[in-house]
Amino acid sequence: MHEYTAKTFDLPEIEGISKAQLDAHIKLYEGYVKHVNTIQQSTMSLHSSDNPNKDYMMKELWRRYGFEFNGMRNHEYYFGAIEGSPTSLNPESKLGKKIAEWGGFEEVINIIKFMSGTRGSGWVMFVYDKVVDQFNFAWVDEHQIGMLSDTQIILALDCWEHAYMIDHDTTGRGAYVESYLNAVNWSVCEKWFEEVMK
Ligand SMILES: [Fe+2]
Repeated sequence: MHEYTAKTFDLPEIEGISKAQLDAHIKLYEGYVKHVNTIQQSTMSLHSSDNPNKDYMMKELWRRYGFEFNGMRNHEYYFGAIEGSPTSLNPESKLGKKIAEWGGFEEVINIIKFMSGTRGSGWVMFVYDKVVDQFNFAWVDEHQIGMLSDTQIILALDCWEHAYMIDHDTTGRGAYVESYLNAVNWSVCEKWFEEVMK
């Protein structure tokens, strides 16, 4: 099986999100990558073992796989979108044109902000559904519950407290979301959109 490697991210100084916060968050991301590999390796060793409880143990590990895998992949979108430097959405890009046709960038941001107030730990996902050619939004509990299948992530906004607990107290989600959205390099999101449109 493929062994996953944690990516590194070229993150600028971000207004409102400290380096200490980002460093701690990247460590958590690395933990998800490690656990994806752990589940893969552990189930393989259990499979070939003579442990009488191996079936149950393997199934329970696989039950956790989506949590760890999406924990890994969602963070790659999260950090990937703030690499480089903050860049506005180019209205002439394919993504810019599609968003304008859909209802406008401001509306996308308003919906993301509104959904980021959902209670609990999770993510706001702004996605593109190629099957019917439309954007969609999802609140994803933990990392995986509620993710819309077969959609392309355009923006993944981490709303777990671990994303802002060093910089804010538990009431700081709104300020953190504002800082993250201001830091997005939309040219990266444009590339992701162009990839799926090929
Ligand atoms: Fe996170």
